[in-house]
Amino acid sequence: MTNSLGLAGKRVLVTGAASGIGLETARVLAEEQAVLILMDRDEAMLAGIARELGAVASAGGDVTREEDCDAMVAKAAVAAGGLDGLVHCAGISDRVAKAFDIDIDEWQHIVDVTLRGTFLACRAAARIMVPQQRGSIVAMSSIRGLIGSPRRHAYGPAKTAVAMMAKNLACEWSLSGVRINAVAPGFIRTPMTDRLIAEGKLDEGLLIDRTPMGRLGSPLEIARATAFLLSDWSSYITGVTLPVDGGWVAYGGAGPVEAH
Ligand SMILES: NC(=O)c1ccc[n+]([C@@H]2O[C@H](COP(=O)([O-])OP(=O)(O)OC[C@H]3O[C@@H](n4cnc5c(N)ncnc54)[C@H](O)[C@@H]3O)[C@@H](O)[C@H]2O)c1
Repeated sequence: MTNSLGLAGKRVLVTGAASGIGLETARVLAEEQAVLILMDRDEAMLAGIARELGAVASAGGDVTREEDCDAMVAKAAVAAGGLDGLVHCAGISDRVAKAFDIDIDEWQHIVDVTLRGTFLACRAAARIMVPQQRGSIVAMSSIRGLIGSPRRHAYGPAKTAVAMMAKNLACEWSLSGVRINAVAPGFIRTPMTDRLIAEGKLDEGLLIDRTPMGRLGSPLEIARATAFLLSDWSSYITGVTLPVDGGWVAYGGAGPVEAH
């Protein structure tokens, strides 16, 4: 094995590639000379990104729709001649509200995008990977799925389920040579986080004080961890959820880290 991640020539489908973590991961994979297929519901934004990164194909669509997930994988198979990896980043935040104030249809929508979307995307990709006895999948969980949080009643439990899904599917697919892992980002500077800060649903100062590393993370830091899990450098790792969070879930103290 060389010093490179060995992703050159690997055919990788990235969902949620029009923004934030998915976009940055696609950039890192393009630098690693992976063959890219990009997917997002924001087709207009995606088209320019696909051109910029030299993707062999791009697909608009909604990951909660089974036919869209199957179509994106079929497109990848035709354009790239197969599929070696999936990075599933498509996702939305929730409304951040107390349990009594939540509209159940809104709750269901967040669960659908997070949980149903992850299952459908992973299953569609594995329909190609399992028969070829090779493949690597990385899904996005969240620290909200690893620790309890008030006012995150759809997103948090659905992200916990994504972590469990990685375990369950790893148990089912690993003998077929397909690994599946998840990343649990902490607070990362993306349009999603910026929106929550702007709406007053997250307090940036409090987050920084509560993070052992004393800062928010960058999309690049998630992209690099994701590329590692996607690559053969993690060849004996499957079914794990890796927190990439500046120490957020490690900290069990009360109040700011500096107060201890
Ligand atoms: N930013 C963070 O701090 C953070 C923390 C923990 C977990 N995450 C997770 O990482 C992933 C990416 O988040 P981000 O911050 O980059 O968000 P983002 O909003 O910047 O990007 C998400 C992308 O997913 C696409 N998308 C949303 N719903 C979709 C659907 N139904 N079908 C297809 N595409 C869809 C959006 O169009 C967008 O381009 C999400 O799963 C998110 O929950 C983010």
